[in-house]
Amino acid sequence: MGPRVPKLVAAFVAGIVVAAVFALAPTSLLVLAPILAPIVAPIPAHAQDQPHSCGGGGPQDTTPQLVSMSAGMASTPIQVAVTGAAGQIGYALVFRIASGQMFGPDQPIALRMLEIEPALKSLEGVAMELDDCAFPMLASMELTSNAEKAFEGANWALLVGAAPRKQGMERSDLLAVNGGIFGPQGKALAKTAAANIRILVVGNPCNTNAYIARLNAPEIAAERWFAMTRLDENRARSQLAQKAKVPVAAISNVGVWGNHSTTQYPDARNARIAGLPVFDVISDHGWLKGKFIETVQKRGAAVIEARGASSAASAANAVIDSVASLRTATPWGDWHSLAVVSHGEYSVPEGLQFGFPVRSDGEHWEVVPDLKHDDDGWDRIKKTTHELLQEQEMVKGLVPAQA
Ligand code: NAD
Ligand code: LMR
Repeated sequence: MGPRVPKLVAAFVAGIVVAAVFALAPTSLLVLAPILAPIVAPIPAHAQDQPHSCGGGGPQDTTPQLVSMSAGMASTPIQVAVTGAAGQIGYALVFRIASGQMFGPDQPIALRMLEIEPALKSLEGVAMELDDCAFPMLASMELTSNAEKAFEGANWALLVGAAPRKQGMERSDLLAVNGGIFGPQGKALAKTAAANIRILVVGNPCNTNAYIARLNAPEIAAERWFAMTRLDENRARSQLAQKAKVPVAAISNVGVWGNHSTTQYPDARNARIAGLPVFDVISDHGWLKGKFIETVQKRGAAVIEARGASSAASAANAVIDSVASLRTATPWGDWHSLAVVSHGEYSVPEGLQFGFPVRSDGEHWEVVPDLKHDDDGWDRIKKTTHELLQEQEMVKGLVPAQA
């Protein structure tokens, strides 16, 4: 019996507090609303389909008032389109988005998931599991095989849906299979997405797929298109941290230049370890100039060989990181990797979707200027530029003629 006494006392005290709160309403309710909001009014999944009644009671009707106040505080759901949502990466990604890891714990999410017809049943299973997670911030889900519908009002579009390569293939070998997906999706985005849409292309070869989609959507500013080189950056950071025997958090300023392919240039020359130049901390310069670069360039193939399938969880993680590094201000002096439209920076031809070191103020981004390269760095940048120009040539038939 003993242990029950403190519980009873606690319950009694809680009762008095609740009674006092209601006696002092409505002023105290206003004060308490921010505390009670997450407890009282979690947003149910699929809420968009149901008339959600908030408030409505008279002045004495305190419970509806509570709901009303908290619902008023929740911001409008952000519309997030994910293509290929039933695929490997999709499956690793949508749960992280719905849980709040991409847009923060207080931002309601409307998930708009696009799949091809044959994968819609599997997508329904994904949606069932999302329901079963009861994520408080998942406001609604749209499941569709219609791109225009999927992108309707979208603020973010994560273009993942595309075939992955198999062992022995280069990513550019996928152009013939995947290139055709991105022109129509670009057009659909231009037609139905929100004016503030931002698009991250993940499906390979992601730089050139982003280029195809972008050129098919001239209505959307070129600065709103990104292709994912963040996985390469993260791989490079891990390799450097392991070599230097330091925590990965000590690694900064890792830029990945050019194509998300084996010609990419993960740049250790400008990277830093605990604020110091990498070449001052790691004395094995042969490794930095050779094995390090090659490991990062070929990491995707190594994962395919080991797993029998291309990277998925790490790719989904890089999507989260890519979006975060655009939506939040880059720490002073640092940068992250994204493939963005070239305006001729570092002599990269205008219009290429090129991996650069990028920094953001949370709203706008820019390519980090004035970084220095040695001859080897410049050679590598030229080589990856050349490959992207070749890919551009290969997809001439998929972009409007004037481009
Ligand atoms: P997956 O085959 O497991 O899933 C792809 C999904 O896309 C499938 O469910 C498929 O039905 C769907 N899909 C195909 N065509 C579609 C279309 N037109 N519209 C909507 N959905 C469509 O493949 P995955 O492992 O998830 O990889 C997806 C893509 O991401 C691949 O091209 C892969 O090479 C690429 N990838 C890129 C990076 C990167 O760093 N940029 C990293 C890993 C993988
Ligand atoms: C990766 O880098 O892991 C992906 O692009 C998949 C691949 O084909 O390598």
